[in-house]
Amino acid sequence: MKDRIRQIIEEVKEYRAGSEYDAEAFRIKYLGKKGLLNDLFADFKSVLAEDRKETGQLLNDLKSLLQKRVDQFKAGFKSQEASSASFSDLSLPVDFQETGSRHPVSIVLNKMIEVFNKLGFPVAEDREIEDDWHNFTALNFPLDHPARDMQDTFFIETNPDIALRTHTSSVQIRYMEKHKPPLRAIFPGRVYRNEAISARAHCLFHQVEGLYVDKNVSFADLKQTLLYFAQEMFDANTKIRLRPSFFPFTEPSAEMDISCNICGGKGCNICKYTGWVEILGCGMVDPAVLENCNIDSKEYTGFAFGIGVERMALLLYQINDLRLFFENDLRFLKQFRSVV
Ligand code: DAH
Repeated sequence: MKDRIRQIIEEVKEYRAGSEYDAEAFRIKYLGKKGLLNDLFADFKSVLAEDRKETGQLLNDLKSLLQKRVDQFKAGFKSQEASSASFSDLSLPVDFQETGSRHPVSIVLNKMIEVFNKLGFPVAEDREIEDDWHNFTALNFPLDHPARDMQDTFFIETNPDIALRTHTSSVQIRYMEKHKPPLRAIFPGRVYRNEAISARAHCLFHQVEGLYVDKNVSFADLKQTLLYFAQEMFDANTKIRLRPSFFPFTEPSAEMDISCNICGGKGCNICKYTGWVEILGCGMVDPAVLENCNIDSKEYTGFAFGIGVERMALLLYQINDLRLFFENDLRFLKQFRSVV
């Protein structure tokens, strides 16, 4: 019974009467002869002796709260009547209606899409539950590649061929199955990895994949595209640096750093005093990947890249813990109203 009374107290506190009619209906529902309060007092007779004191106190609290609310509603409508009868005072404060805000990851993702749209990359999306062919094999992952390990991939229990995609690179394959070159698109979406959750890693995050395949696409095209992207996302003075790396689906492969937007390259704890922070992986599409999608690798070349969206958001908003993005704490989320 105590819980029920507490619940009613909460309801009463939250209730707002929109009209005089509502206020009267409220009064009858709770304080009327056959109202809830009388029912509760009737039930009180059967409350056990040891619970009587606390329950009685709660009932009395509810009673005075109800009386107070009814008086407040009455007074509110009276003063409204009085003021609307004479004049409307436009300077009176209005009820503050809180507006929602976009999630910081959405804000950053939308900005990334906008930048690539300007370069003529449309958005395409595909499934999050993938088969081995699209997530690994067609992307040239050798059978014994560690990324196929149970540690990294969430497999579907009943079928080891099906898994939650570990990267958006799978959409490259899906896209090239449906479109023939010249082609150019970005693929934003959620990806999943079987990782221990910490400030720097999560089992769920977002990537934006990019793909461009045409005749004579070169590494210089890739570099210029990514430089434009970095300068639009951060500022016009942002520098980029490409370091050789390895991915099974690109050759050559690189990782791209930008000059640290926080210290301007002087050195701080975000860039670990190097002046550079890594933001993406990229490279020239491996001919074997093109061939897996029935695209003639002698005629066509392409570049691809994959960018971590949370990583961009961490840098742009100077946040130091990835977990904050997924906890749905309104005090955190409310801070991001503007577009970067
Ligand atoms: N798929 C890679 C990852 O999740 C990122 C990546 C690297 C994507 C290089 C690419 C690329 O398209 O060319 O770590």
